[in-house]
Amino acid sequence: MQRSPYTPGSVAPVVYGREALLRDARRDLAFMKEFPELKGRLEIFVGSRGVGKTSLLRTIENDARSLGFASCWITAGDGPFIGALVEALDTLSRDWQDTAREELANILRNLSVTVAGVKVTSDADAPTVEMSSLGRVVQQALQEAAEGAGDPGLVLLVDEIQAADANGLRALAYAWQHLQSEAPGLPLMTFCAGLTHSQDVITDAVSFAERFRYRQLENLDPESSRAALEEPALARGVHWTPEALDKALALAAGYPYFLQVIGDEAWKAAGYPDAGEVIGGSHVSEANSQFREVQRIFFRSRWMKATPLEQEFMSAMAADGGSPARRGEIAERMGRTTQSISMVRRSLMDKGLIDAPAHGYVEFTAPGFAEFVRREGDPSEER
Ligand SMILES: Nc1ncnc2c1ncn2[C@@H]1O[C@H](COP(=O)(O)OP(=O)(O)OP(=O)(O)O)[C@@H](O)[C@H]1O
Ligand SMILES: [Mg+2]
Repeated sequence: MQRSPYTPGSVAPVVYGREALLRDARRDLAFMKEFPELKGRLEIFVGSRGVGKTSLLRTIENDARSLGFASCWITAGDGPFIGALVEALDTLSRDWQDTAREELANILRNLSVTVAGVKVTSDADAPTVEMSSLGRVVQQALQEAAEGAGDPGLVLLVDEIQAADANGLRALAYAWQHLQSEAPGLPLMTFCAGLTHSQDVITDAVSFAERFRYRQLENLDPESSRAALEEPALARGVHWTPEALDKALALAAGYPYFLQVIGDEAWKAAGYPDAGEVIGGSHVSEANSQFREVQRIFFRSRWMKATPLEQEFMSAMAADGGSPARRGEIAERMGRTTQSISMVRRSLMDKGLIDAPAHGYVEFTAPGFAEFVRREGDPSEER
């Protein structure tokens, strides 16, 4: 018996289908190692819930570390962004020498005080005095941190960036702007990840948004999906039959989380195979009911997190099956104007339940969710 190599619900140790993005990131890291220089653009990987953003970011972090870089990980959304930054930089400096550590600690204290004094403003074009000074202190903190980290430099990783508050995003962008003109030789770079509408969130908060560069993560294509199922098994000497693979691929529809679930369930159905054993079509059929159950619970918990109005919106969307639905049509089905549903549309995007694949359209982020909504979603249900 061997443990399952699949990772439903946890970070993937190998990210399939992301070769081009990883190649670029690795090239940037290699360049920075050779020529220490601030990376002027903040790279942002955007994609739907469960598409593999955190796994990609962790892979880049591991790559950076194996090249000798220091790294700093921030997950936005759990409290103010600057607070999370302060904490992460403080952790980074934990095993530095006393003087370097003390200097950074002083700046971080100043940062905490400044952020506490910043007024909340939603107008991106009118930075308050406090705001620009917050950007300045963030700049100092990043500079001190990257210098203190030493060769070859510091890599900042920000996950769930769509959940960062506007003040935090603005301060980060200001800091980067200043650093680029005042400390261009600073070996510092940032990779971020967030839901598909991260760009809207950032553009609303920051006026010079061209500093950010977005790369879209999609579901895995058939070839990468196949590799994601086959290769972890092969590494343990276990083969999938072509029939088993085809069945599993059809169930997962390229969605990384579902690939891991069906892989894991098939592995169990095959009796935790030893090297030389095979996962066959009958194992996948056997795994199917368990897969459906996991999928149902996954959909159900998403559905229950939605408000009645959000549920009504999703029911209107589901009428189009799994294909993208027009906003105008959803509004009509709900008996409302397009404008009046824009808030609920946005909150569903914040929750990661829907995406906007093209202007004027929305679609569900997980394959099969539309069918679930049609089958089991009942907006009037007691919650
Ligand atoms: N490139 C990949 N190849 C195979 N499996 C992957 C890949 N990326 C992620 N996974 C798997 O998909 C699931 C979701 O991964 P991950 O948590 O990285 O996604 P995410 O986009 O960060 O999700 P969320 O939006 O919920 O934060 C996990 O089970 C993970 O093991
Ligand atoms: Mg994630």
